[in-house]
Amino acid sequence: MTARPAIKPIAADRLPDLLRAMPKAELHMHIEGSLEPELMFALAQRNQVPLRFANEQALRDAYVFNNLQEFLDIYHEGTMVLKTEQDFYDMACAYLARAQADRVLHAEIFFDTQTHTGHGLSAETVINGLHRACAEAPEKFGMTASLILCFLRHLSEDEAFECLEQALPLRDKIVGIGLASSEVGHPPEKFAKVYARARQLGFRLVAHAGEEAPPAYIWSALDVLRVERIDHGVQAIHDTALMQRLIHDRTPLTVCPLSNLKLCVFPTLAQHNLGRMLDAGIMATVNSDDPAYFGGYLNQNFTQTFDALGLSARHAYTLARNSFDASFIDASVRARYVDQLDEVFETFQ
Ligand code: ADE
Ligand code: ZN
Repeated sequence: MTARPAIKPIAADRLPDLLRAMPKAELHMHIEGSLEPELMFALAQRNQVPLRFANEQALRDAYVFNNLQEFLDIYHEGTMVLKTEQDFYDMACAYLARAQADRVLHAEIFFDTQTHTGHGLSAETVINGLHRACAEAPEKFGMTASLILCFLRHLSEDEAFECLEQALPLRDKIVGIGLASSEVGHPPEKFAKVYARARQLGFRLVAHAGEEAPPAYIWSALDVLRVERIDHGVQAIHDTALMQRLIHDRTPLTVCPLSNLKLCVFPTLAQHNLGRMLDAGIMATVNSDDPAYFGGYLNQNFTQTFDALGLSARHAYTLARNSFDASFIDASVRARYVDQLDEVFETFQ
């Protein structure tokens, strides 16, 4: 870890501008969850896929969820419009443009191959389309981007093995493996063998754990799957020994405040535990999860959460710095990004 700059106090009314201006990485974003209603309707028309909503606003009005499963049902329905490699490329470019506007210098993008192979598409269609957008990101969007393939945890481990097999010819286009979808009832240990195989193959490992399910899911993501980062992890706060473990090991949590609000994990943003986690020494980051569905991209997550929790410029630096330190980028690129971050904090007025 390199030295951190002295953080100057700044006026509260300047904090949102600092949050927007600071360079950052996004480590928890499902590309299918970035599909905005406008692009969904355009792709539906291009691919002749019927939608049950009359227009974009009617679709947006349906984005009211009581829990993760209610969201996953409508998210899955939206993915039906994706048919060709070009569709995946267009969706990823639309996200990268939004990320660039939020000063994201690096994104690690989740995708669920199984959702699309379940609709008859090939893994190549999905991965090649997304990867082309990531490969062009430095030139087109002034940022880097890589891909993390998430297994769907409501499906079997055998199906996850099959998904891994299908991805292997495209191994070089994927940096890591993750675990997403319906959490409760599908604990990490269900995927012990396929994660062991992915580890042997050299993939970086992450998993959603402790979004809705109890701390035991985070323990088994760490001890059985041996992941390097926990996606969400907000339920860790209910287990003191787990908090100590996460702090001691500097295990990153990719926290998604607006997602947690929309899926009723916390009743209000003011009751979110991000500030308590950071002040306890947890290596948290802020992320958008499914920005088209949850009311905001990365900077909206930052500005709304900082406003609701009264967080400071020091918290902002810590979160941005954590996002680079927790990323899977090369050390030399990370050092360059951290220099850019430090420069903003040194010169911001
Ligand atoms: N897939 C897309 N978004 C998700 C989330 N928040 N939790 C689990 N799986 C997901
Ligand atoms: Zn997620």
